[in-house]
Amino acid sequence: MANLRYKRVLLKLSGEALAGSGHFGIDPATVSSLCAEIGEVLRYGVQLAVVIGGGNIFRGMAGATQGMERASADYMGMLATVLNAVAVQDSLEKLGHATRVLSAITMQEICEPYIRRRADRHLEKGRVVICAAGTGNPYFTTDTAAALRGMELKCEALIKATKVDGVYDKDPVKYSDAVKYSRISYSEAIARRLGIMDTTAISLAMENNIPIIVCGMFNGDIRRLLLGEEVGTIVQGE
Ligand code: GTP
Repeated sequence: MANLRYKRVLLKLSGEALAGSGHFGIDPATVSSLCAEIGEVLRYGVQLAVVIGGGNIFRGMAGATQGMERASADYMGMLATVLNAVAVQDSLEKLGHATRVLSAITMQEICEPYIRRRADRHLEKGRVVICAAGTGNPYFTTDTAAALRGMELKCEALIKATKVDGVYDKDPVKYSDAVKYSRISYSEAIARRLGIMDTTAISLAMENNIPIIVCGMFNGDIRRLLLGEEVGTIVQGE
């Protein structure tokens, strides 16, 4: 087994990451390449919990701004995360990895209910635990769900894998002179509204002193990070 920097991590993926170039829905080819990337790190023996957003299918906040009751819109968003979780489970299992989907909203015909001690045991057994349906409550984002699951499952780091390979001072797609931060403090991340995760999620990470690492999703960053290389941007205490 490799000498891992972190033995148990929470990986937060945005729902949009599953949509491919269509920006909507689930693109099976994109899901497979994402799962191949995840499979790369599993062979090193890392214990991996995953939280996936649902924005490729339905975004609660957007529904609310268009006149829906916020709670109803958020519940729809939570259901969207279950679709994504089952898609990722299917793809990881095709690659031969054991997985369990655990949902914060009980739907036992589809997946197991989220029970912390059970999730912990699955992780110990080397199964990828995909946490679905957010926190099970409206008004909380999947970023917050990721921070919450990361804390209660005693993960050593929250990895936010995105299409951009870190946090920049300005949009690197638009500006060629954008500079990537290698480190940034929790309070700076909150004060400067860098959009890494929402404030509740960053505050939770700060209170529990768990680092957030923002890195690339399809470029081998997650593997390099776990093997000890400095990649992306680390958000941590001063
Ligand atoms: P161990 O007890 O550690 O062996 O875990 P396990 O998950 O292999 O055992 P279990 O007998 O609990 O589960 C066997 C299979 O049934 C697994 O694929 C689980 O994901 C699935 N499963 C367990 N509980 C539920 C449930 O409440 N709903 C659904 N849909 N599947 C479940």
